[in-house]
Amino acid sequence: MQVTYLGHGTISIDVNNKTLLIDPFITGNPLASDIDVNTLKADYILITHAHQDHILDVETIAKRTLAKIISNYEIVMHYSAKGFDGHPLNHGGACVFDDITIKYVNAVHTSSFPDGSYGGQPGGFVISYNDKSVYVAGDTAVTFDMKLIPMQTKLDLAILPIGDNFTMGVEDAIIASDFVECDKILGCHYDTFPPIEIDKAAAIEKFKYSNKKLLLLDIGKSIQL
Ligand code: NI
Ligand code: MN
Repeated sequence: MQVTYLGHGTISIDVNNKTLLIDPFITGNPLASDIDVNTLKADYILITHAHQDHILDVETIAKRTLAKIISNYEIVMHYSAKGFDGHPLNHGGACVFDDITIKYVNAVHTSSFPDGSYGGQPGGFVISYNDKSVYVAGDTAVTFDMKLIPMQTKLDLAILPIGDNFTMGVEDAIIASDFVECDKILGCHYDTFPPIEIDKAAAIEKFKYSNKKLLLLDIGKSIQL
């Protein structure tokens, strides 16, 4: 499993010769100007919630790649009505495509489309293939529901928002990583806008003090699991 950070909440996961693209927000992110939205691969586009900074490039990429959109029911219906291929989930439910298990799990956040229409309830994803599993929290507060995840799944990586203001900040993300029982964290949802700018060195130190490894990848860089 290869995990690539594309800035903000955008993550690409290459697994079993397929590419899962999560929350594509490239063209609106000045920090991601080196990423070309017209060459990104996607067999599946996973969407955690309907906010602009998670869906901005969905249609552009889905039109070119014909990727299947996987999200909550309301978001998938929104894109199905526009002619896109999709597969709806709801919280606690999982689907399997190409032997990759994708489960939609709880998040504490909101989920309206940019025009204010209802985007269902927000979520995160637990993605598993063979003996590897990744948790993509999406935008969320720390929540006790996270404790349900390790009851079923031993995580190899937790991708957590750390930018504060709209989501968890660093201290709460450390608690979240305890709840999901994963000491390897990829930070996301930071530095994109002034309210979520962080001190990266201090964040890494705080995780280290809690015996956890916080990875902050340059945009476009990958890790192998
Ligand atoms: Ni959001
Ligand atoms: Mn967001």
